[in-house]
This record gives sequence, C-alpha cells and structure tokens, in this order.
Amino acid sequence: MTFTYYGHSCFSVEINGKKLLFDPFITGNPLAKDIDITKIEADYILISHAHGDHLADAEAIANTTGATIVACYEVAMWYAKKGITKYQPMNIGGKWKFDFGTVKCVNAVHSSVLPDGTYGGNPMGFLVTSDEINFYYAGDTALTLDMQLIPTFAEIDLAILPLGDQLTMGIDDAIQAAKMVQVDTVIGVHFDTFAAIKIDHQKAIDNFKTHGIALKLLTVGQTIDI
Ligand code: NI
Ligand code: MN
Repeated sequence: MTFTYYGHSCFSVEINGKKLLFDPFITGNPLAKDIDITKIEADYILISHAHGDHLADAEAIANTTGATIVACYEVAMWYAKKGITKYQPMNIGGKWKFDFGTVKCVNAVHSSVLPDGTYGGNPMGFLVTSDEINFYYAGDTALTLDMQLIPTFAEIDLAILPLGDQLTMGIDDAIQAAKMVQVDTVIGVHFDTFAAIKIDHQKAIDNFKTHGIALKLLTVGQTIDI
C-alpha cells in the first residue's frame, strides 16, 4: 500500500488500485500550501467527522474526481443536499464492503458539527480491511477503552493516530492506543498545523520507540510504501 501525507489529518492510500483520500483539509492549511488539490486523485473520500479541519476540501475534490464520499449519515446527507450524488452513508458499528476492501466505522470520543452549524452526527474512526493491508485510522479522538475492540475485529498492520494533544490524544495517550490496537507501526497525524498542537518530533519518535513502536512522521507531500 502506498501512503501519501497531505498535512494535518489528510492522507491518501492506494489499495487494490483504488485511491482513498481521508479527511481533506489542504487549502486552509498553511503547511500544505504546496499541495495542489486539483491534482489529487481519489475514488473515495472518507470523512471521520464534520469539523472543518477534516472536510474543508471534500466537496471540491469530490467534484473534480467524481469520488464517492464515505461519512456518517448526517455528513453524507449534508453533501447530498449540496448536490453530491456519490456518497455512502455509514455509522458507528456498521461496515460496508467496497471494491477495495471493507470499512468498519468505530467509536471516536470527540465532537462533531458541520461548518455551517448543521448537526454532524457522531465522530468516527475507520477500520479498513483488505487482502492487501488492514489499518485503523482513529480520526480525532481521546484515548478510549473502545480501542481494545479493534484487534478483536481484525489483526491490523498500521494505526494512524492523532498526536497533537489539546483537541485530541497527545503522544502518551497515543502510545497506549497503539498498544490497545496491537500495532508496532504508527503514522502520526493532527500535529504541528497550529501553534497549540506543535510537537517535538524526535521526542515523540523516541517515546514510541521505548515502547517498541515505530512512529512515522511524514513531511507534507511525502509518499511511503507500507
Ligand atoms: Ni475535530
Ligand atoms: Mn481536528
């Protein structure tokens, strides 16, 4: 699987020839100023929750790519009202089989409201399983015991976890989360975008390492093979 980081909590993965874009927030992110959203390819856009820093560019990218928006029911219907025709509404606990693999929506402990004040449903994380890779993207969340359920659903190869603290888990809690979901590789997201969520990269990597976990912090625009 290839993994491309677009800054904040936005990333894209390619699985079985399909491109999945998560939580597009690019044009509003000064750290992602070199990313041209018109060049991003996507077959699916997965949105963890309704906050602007997770969906601000979703409509534009859905329109240019024709991608299907995958989100909780309330967010999917908000896009339907805007004229988006390809969407897959989901909700926590439910899974849906796509042509690249299966997505199961899992609990995230956070809040959620759309940028115009519309009720945004509940925030979610995603468990993606496929014949190529299984991974967990936590979305914006606190550390929660619900994460212990993840390895009972599937053995996962990778967790993508928020690290910035203040609005989500910080580094220490993310280490516990990685242990709960039983991974030895974590890609960090939701850090450095704003002053309040800046992290010390080397310290974070070293902290994870003392627990036997490899933390990867990508630069904006970087692509790696997992
Ligand atoms: Ni949020
Ligand atoms: Mn956020």
